[in-house]
Amino acid sequence: MRILIELSYLIASVLFIFGIKNLSSPKTARKGNFLAALGMFIAIIVTLFDQHVLTFEWIIIGFVIGGTTGVLMAIKTPMTGMPQMVGLLNGFGGGASLLVALSEYYKMKNFTTWTFNDATNITIVLSLIIGAVTLTGSLIAFGKLQGIVTGKVVKYPGQHPLNVILFVGLIAAGVFFVIDPTLETLVIAIAAVSLVLGVLLVLPIGGADMPVAISLLNSYSGLAAASTGFVLQNNQLIIAGALVGASGIILTMIMCKGMNRSLLNVVMGGWENAGSTGPATTTTSPKGQVKSVDSEELAMIFDAAENIIIVPGYGMAVAQAQHAVRDLVNLLEAKGKKVRFAIHPVAGRMPGHMNVLLAEAQISYDKMLSMEEINDDFPNTDISLIIGANDVVNPAARNDKNSPIYGMPILNVDYSKTVVINKRSMNVGYAGIENELFFYPNSLMYFGDAKDAVAKLTQELKNV
Ligand code: TAP
Repeated sequence: MRILIELSYLIASVLFIFGIKNLSSPKTARKGNFLAALGMFIAIIVTLFDQHVLTFEWIIIGFVIGGTTGVLMAIKTPMTGMPQMVGLLNGFGGGASLLVALSEYYKMKNFTTWTFNDATNITIVLSLIIGAVTLTGSLIAFGKLQGIVTGKVVKYPGQHPLNVILFVGLIAAGVFFVIDPTLETLVIAIAAVSLVLGVLLVLPIGGADMPVAISLLNSYSGLAAASTGFVLQNNQLIIAGALVGASGIILTMIMCKGMNRSLLNVVMGGWENAGSTGPATTTTSPKGQVKSVDSEELAMIFDAAENIIIVPGYGMAVAQAQHAVRDLVNLLEAKGKKVRFAIHPVAGRMPGHMNVLLAEAQISYDKMLSMEEINDDFPNTDISLIIGANDVVNPAARNDKNSPIYGMPILNVDYSKTVVINKRSMNVGYAGIENELFFYPNSLMYFGDAKDAVAKLTQELKNV
């Protein structure tokens, strides 16, 4: 029996690994998701049979409630709400680790035989600390993105020393617990202080930096699960937790690299203006004239072009303009033009945000090119059409040493013959800074909500 269970765990782990491998490309991502879900299904079923944790009635009730909640959340959450949903789910993972650690502690304590050993004690403490920090940290992250908690960068005197004191206190308490696990108040204190630390660590981070913080918390939830795996002596949980921990930290590093920022910069409070939606708050405004066009003029410009690159950004997601964009692309192609998409690694608000939206509108993956693949092609491009993107095309990242985004790799749209920027106003993007591109001589602003504006352009193009 044991061998069967371990074999099932092995199969589930292999499915996780293949799942993650397939998730690395949009083309295979669905398959990856399915493989990983199948692995998790096998792991859950085997564990429930193996451990005889609960009666079948409870298992079925839990299955139905959990499954229904998951399906409803998945259906109801819009694409733009994905980061906070992921945040909330991470929090649940952390909370589960915290509860399992507490229940294992009380189970052992109540047997009075004191079956504790140092290894178990260490993993219980780790599960408590990481699980609790992940739980409250994720709830704050969710609140920030949902607008329940302030999205601003929160700073207060003594913030960093306080965090350090709490952290050192936790380590000291953890050591005491390992030496003497009979001190129940110590366990409660460790859990309580960790819950507070989770709030204090995430509260200072600006709302717009939350996707990075959530990815980091995702990694923490993996570590919490892995240490819970040690507590329960469950190999499957150790492997799954380690995979989540490692992939979460890799994703965090990719996001930081795409923004040319250090993880420390994000965690310590990040850009002051991050998440702004109004006008820029920086003092040095770019000089020059802004030229704007209407859909009629723009249709004529597009009619004369041969080579077009579309750069989607967060605004396309907000407007849900992907279907309108697909109609435009179909028409342009029918007119014999070459149309491709340039996808910046941090366009939108989560990794792969643009790919997912475009794929949803049945736009083929071959047309979506990464920054590395397409950046050299801009000088040979007639029109770069920016749809609701801002920071990822801001040349200040190349030119202005004082800019907070200086050094961030950007799409070189300004090298193309004409740049058309569609957005609703001159307002800033995520980084909260002006975009000098809007003032360039080869730039044309095409104001309006992305969905309406693109639909209008398509309509006008039909008449040209
Ligand atoms: P942003 O720089 O945030 O700019 C989006 C622009 O879309 C805004 O300037 C806004 O201007 C416009 N917009 C909003 N609603 C619109 C609508 N309905 N129709 C048309 N336009 C609309 O977006 P980006 O260029 O995609 O850059 C992403 C930013 O997010 C980067 O700074 C990146 O570092 C950051 N970030 C990304 C991630 C990931 S993983 N993708 C994670 C964390 C942070 P108006 O208000 O004038 O319309």
